[in-house]
Amino acid sequence: MSEKKINNIVPPEVMKRTFDFSEKMLRLNEKRSIERGEKMRAYVLTFGCQQNEADSEKIAGMSRAMGYEIADTPEKADLIMVNTCAVREHAEKKALSTIGQFKHLKAKNQALMIGVCGCMVTQEHRREELRHSYPYVDFIFGTSSLHRLPELLYEKTVKGKRLFCPEEEEYQVAEGLGIERDSTYRAWVSIMYGCNNFCSYCIVPYVRGRERSRRMEDIVSEVEALAREGYKDITLLGQNVNSYAKGMEYDFADLMSRLSQIDGDFKLRFMTSHPKDASRKLIDVMAENEKIARHFHLPLQSGSDKMLKAMNRHYDKAQYLDTVRYIREKMPDIALTTDIIVGFPGETEEDFEGTLEMLREVRYDMIFSFIYSPRKGTPAAEMEQIPESVKSERFSRLLKVQNEISLSKNLPLVGKTLRVLCDGVSKNNEELLSGRTEGNKIVFFHGESSDEGKYLNIKIDRAEAFALYGEKI
Ligand code: SAH
Ligand code: SF4
Ligand code: F3S
Repeated sequence: MSEKKINNIVPPEVMKRTFDFSEKMLRLNEKRSIERGEKMRAYVLTFGCQQNEADSEKIAGMSRAMGYEIADTPEKADLIMVNTCAVREHAEKKALSTIGQFKHLKAKNQALMIGVCGCMVTQEHRREELRHSYPYVDFIFGTSSLHRLPELLYEKTVKGKRLFCPEEEEYQVAEGLGIERDSTYRAWVSIMYGCNNFCSYCIVPYVRGRERSRRMEDIVSEVEALAREGYKDITLLGQNVNSYAKGMEYDFADLMSRLSQIDGDFKLRFMTSHPKDASRKLIDVMAENEKIARHFHLPLQSGSDKMLKAMNRHYDKAQYLDTVRYIREKMPDIALTTDIIVGFPGETEEDFEGTLEMLREVRYDMIFSFIYSPRKGTPAAEMEQIPESVKSERFSRLLKVQNEISLSKNLPLVGKTLRVLCDGVSKNNEELLSGRTEGNKIVFFHGESSDEGKYLNIKIDRAEAFALYGEKI
């Protein structure tokens, strides 16, 4: 197969259109800014996962190229972009209610444009809902059409007609869009898009299209630039990074190995790795390269083989444990985290006990747990559902078991000194700074706001299930 077919790069003539519309929008915005004596401003709101965060940084980058300053509140904006998620019902509800709240801003600012994009609006029924019930939304585009933002915005601004951009039949990779990163020390780098796995509960393959990978050379130059700019923590993103570059002459382990050779004081991370193809080769590359953070996120979902089969996960408990054993054999100090779904259709008490057993056996540092949420169009949504009361009761039992495990894993860290990348003033307590260890554990300590973005040595003096506390040394 030719590389082009696998990569599916957006053709240069299509990208040129994007850049041409961006230029037109820029000229328009420059004129408008002069007329009103104030810069035009854009506000980007993001729901969902890191992939969406990364897309939003491109939306902000494109907005900047079109002459917008980035606003810190929606009230100050002339363009509001809402980047939505569809993974659970709660995420959709939150996005819809937030969009609803923007209606009154339109009354104050006639020129305000509201655009909605992302996974939620890549579903036909949600587009229809927005079309009919949210008339103040100006334009919509799905995950296949990110690069068409300048065109849609220009057309809407000039012609005034609402635009609902249809999904492209072929999902592609758009290179060369500007990126306005949220942080100057942590960065997201998408290495592939889409998913081919069709886990029976999951909407992602339907809203993100089929897997396609970026070229290794494009990723290498992006990471080289980040390292030069002093970025310290670089996370490679994909729904299943292990199938990066399938059918090409290199694979994910080769990419990690190549990126580890780049000079600079930074750590590489990746999300997410599907247990069915977390390869020994990758684990070996991690073990050999200190640049790769000692953290492995390996989503288990359930500790029942029957559930794993119903979820279409393509591994069983024994295979999963085998991978965990190999990871720990090669890197005894590694932090392990996972995702768990509680209350999948047909989950019995015994199946659930199996999940608790796996938590006790693997002893994760942390878990991300979710109550199963039926997603329209997925096979699991058609299966017989279990009562909400049972789901939430199991969910609290799961948390209780994991809290004890997390705490027992954190307690031995008291008295140790850990290297922490400082994230600045804590969001919950202004008197403390927060930071993350290499294993991604959160640490609180006293310091100055100028510590943000620096590596610090923190001596731990107190441990809780979800956080460590300490002092700078
Ligand atoms: N590609 C990643 C997961 C992306 S979604 C992977 O395969 O690991 C992130 C997490 O959301 C999943 O791991 C799963 O635990 C959870 N999730 C996905 N669909 C869900 C649903 N319908 N209900 C509840 N949780 C869900
Ligand atoms: Fe969803 Fe499964 Fe793909 Fe992850 S691997 S995005 S859970 S379908
Ligand atoms: Fe949500 Fe889309 Fe990510 S559904 S979890 S934003 S890929």
